[in-house]
Amino acid sequence: MSSAPTADPRHRVPSLHRRLAHANANRLQPRGPDDDATADCLSLLAWEERLLSNERRAVSAVAAQAPTTVDGFLTWFNALREHGPGQNDRLFPWLAREASFAQMRWFLTQEAAGEAGFDDLVAFTQVKLPVRAKLELARNYWDEMGRGSADGMHGRMLEQLVHTLALPVAIDTTVWPALALGNLMLGLATRRNYTYHSLGALGVVELTAPGRVAQVAAGLRRLGLGPTERRYFDVHAVLDVKHSAAWNAEIIAPLVEADPNTAAWIAEGALMRLNAGARCFACYRAWFADVTSIEADADADAAATAE
Ligand SMILES: [Fe+2]
Ligand SMILES: [Fe+2]
Repeated sequence: MSSAPTADPRHRVPSLHRRLAHANANRLQPRGPDDDATADCLSLLAWEERLLSNERRAVSAVAAQAPTTVDGFLTWFNALREHGPGQNDRLFPWLAREASFAQMRWFLTQEAAGEAGFDDLVAFTQVKLPVRAKLELARNYWDEMGRGSADGMHGRMLEQLVHTLALPVAIDTTVWPALALGNLMLGLATRRNYTYHSLGALGVVELTAPGRVAQVAAGLRRLGLGPTERRYFDVHAVLDVKHSAAWNAEIIAPLVEADPNTAAWIAEGALMRLNAGARCFACYRAWFADVTSIEADADADAAATAE
């Protein structure tokens, strides 16, 4: 079944992302050799390719300015933590200080629905990489796996939070930018011609997540949730600082040193991921009907800057 065409194909983006999210959830399920893969999946994968290409085009000019020496590139990459798209978004201080329990639940539901599974993304991406990068991805994956303890698996921590708070996670009730973020990450990780983009996208998550998740954890604490419910966020607020340093040193640095052409691809992947995150934050802010306090904070910031 295909959607009725519209005059402007961009109007179809939200519904295509929803269909792609369904197709992705379906195609990743283990299945037997005779199980039917949906015909819809093939046409959606062709659309996924166009999506990735469009997202790449949107950032290529900026990414092309990234230095191609190791030290220069790492300085550029690390600066994304402060100056990249969506960084220091006012959504997060608002979640930490003001969001109600219902608003926090809605936010967590969107985030859980758009989560592509960092462990699986790492596993897809590490195929055929050189030894140093492959070993760091293995160490990262082992941390994701709770170092062999089911209780410490990061994905399970999030699942437990979803279960405890009875979050109604479902593709059909998730805002499209959250689905688009998950679709982007899976598309990059599963296509070998986007391997370096995936490494940039995953690396920038390690770089930028700690600041955000610490504020989410603060909001959960303010709302009376205990260490068990906060664990997914508390763990990443600390562990991802180490993951980011190791990602830069053991993955990005040796790859850029071996082939300076990879710098622009890693940069593009990082910017594509940050753009997708920024779209989510803007959408979430718009969703909350009483974001007046967020907007008022922004107005106050602007006034203070102008003074
Ligand atoms: Fe993790
Ligand atoms: Fe991590």
